[in-house]
Amino acid sequence: MEKVSEKQMTTDVIEEQTDYAAWDTHPPDAEPQRQFYYMELCRRWLKEQQDRLGRPLTAAVITFGCQMNARDSEKLRGILENIGYEMSDTEAADFVIYNTCTVRENANLRVYGRLGRMKHEKEKNPDKRIALCGCMMQESEVVEKLKKSYRFVDIIFGTHNIFKMAELIFRRICEDHMVIDIWKDTDMIVEDLPNDRKYSFKTGINIMFGCNNFCSYCIVPYVRGRERSRQPDDIIREIEQAVSDGVVEVMLLGQNVNSYGKTLAEPISFAQLLRRICRIEGLLRIRFMTSHPKDLSDELIQVMAEEPKICRHLHLPLQSGSSEILKRMNRRYTKKDYLELVDKLRKACPDISLTTDIIVGFPGETEEDFLETMDVVERVGYDSAYTFIYSKRTGTPAAVMDDQIPESVVKDRFDRLLKKVQEKAAAACERFEGRTEMVLVEEINSQDPHLVTGRLSHNLVVHFPGDASLIGHLVPVKLTECHNFYYMGERA
Ligand code: 5AD
Ligand code: SF4
Repeated sequence: MEKVSEKQMTTDVIEEQTDYAAWDTHPPDAEPQRQFYYMELCRRWLKEQQDRLGRPLTAAVITFGCQMNARDSEKLRGILENIGYEMSDTEAADFVIYNTCTVRENANLRVYGRLGRMKHEKEKNPDKRIALCGCMMQESEVVEKLKKSYRFVDIIFGTHNIFKMAELIFRRICEDHMVIDIWKDTDMIVEDLPNDRKYSFKTGINIMFGCNNFCSYCIVPYVRGRERSRQPDDIIREIEQAVSDGVVEVMLLGQNVNSYGKTLAEPISFAQLLRRICRIEGLLRIRFMTSHPKDLSDELIQVMAEEPKICRHLHLPLQSGSSEILKRMNRRYTKKDYLELVDKLRKACPDISLTTDIIVGFPGETEEDFLETMDVVERVGYDSAYTFIYSKRTGTPAAVMDDQIPESVVKDRFDRLLKKVQEKAAAACERFEGRTEMVLVEEINSQDPHLVTGRLSHNLVVHFPGDASLIGHLVPVKLTECHNFYYMGERA
């Protein structure tokens, strides 16, 4: 008897299922029209599911890694919202997408850890869908591992085709198995897709994608592809649109913004682009990252000195203070070049904040090499520094170099470096104590609701009494007390 009713049930289910593939009648070839078409199909599907379940379906984008990824996630969120998902921040959502990073091994391990927990969640919620995208997916070993050991993942795509998410979601709706779409590289830049800004008053703006530098430790050129710049008119149009929506601060993003525009049919320098962006009315602050010291031009330093909208902060990755290590890192500058550049910058913009990235334990790093790094930190006096333990990335030249450094030695150097960085940062921070500076208010203080938190042009953080009405406004604040790496202040 059970047999009959079981068969009956199966038949019923099959009869009820919509033939979603039949909806896909006339996909446009051109982008972004094609994606808007697939968003519409996904919207229809989602509506059906919500009617069936009698509740809204939720989606969450979980981001790992750098500002580029944060920006990509805003675009992913924009697409999901357009489809009709209710956005959430938690992995309990019905659709969870991990935007992954692979710059260091740790980033990969964290993703596998999170995924492990998702398997169980998916068993509890049959409507749950899991997607993975971003840098880690550009590595073929990762995709192989996912195909073998993480069969429950629904959609996998990479860094070059995030604009295609709606199309891939729809494919997953039609095909009852894992959908994988990874591009090796692209010269395509798709403009004008929806996006959902995390903050109403500030946003990242991609000005270029990819990297051609091939620093010997770095996996980014392999997973983000060759350098390509957006057209200046497209960038300006996007910023103007953002400003008309209330944005007052932009962060121009690229792996190496100093080489912006070199590959365009009508070449333009990064400094020239900045001049054009400074003319945008209503835009109050401009930041950019990341600058490669080898490409930082005198023209750029001059623009920074002359244009008040450009923030008094530069992130200038050092990586190592040893010219020998820098050579093997393929950084194409020496310790002397770097220090001269810092002098030039300080001459042009006297109180500029400098921040940096430093890697400890690159293959072959001797104690003397390490002391050269400590020496640069001492001399430059960074406002802050991101310090990283070297992580071996398969496929990069450094991964097969001799003399990988033992963990205990690296750890000891790392601790000494961190101590020095913190001491110097605390001293650097003190230089503004007592001064009044313009502050862009970002949020209510997370620990004390009577305080708001904002940032100086120099990127330093200040907490001072205020309320939500100040968020997104530039206000003068007296920096009354310096606490190592932030200030307490009061409205001036
Ligand atoms: N190991 C450690 N740190 C790395 N970075 C890039 N690749 C590696 C690696 N293999 C650091 C660099 C870079 C920052 C974004 O990440 O310092 O500037
Ligand atoms: Fe990696 Fe060097 Fe390119 Fe930065 S400039 S993304 S460190 S290869």
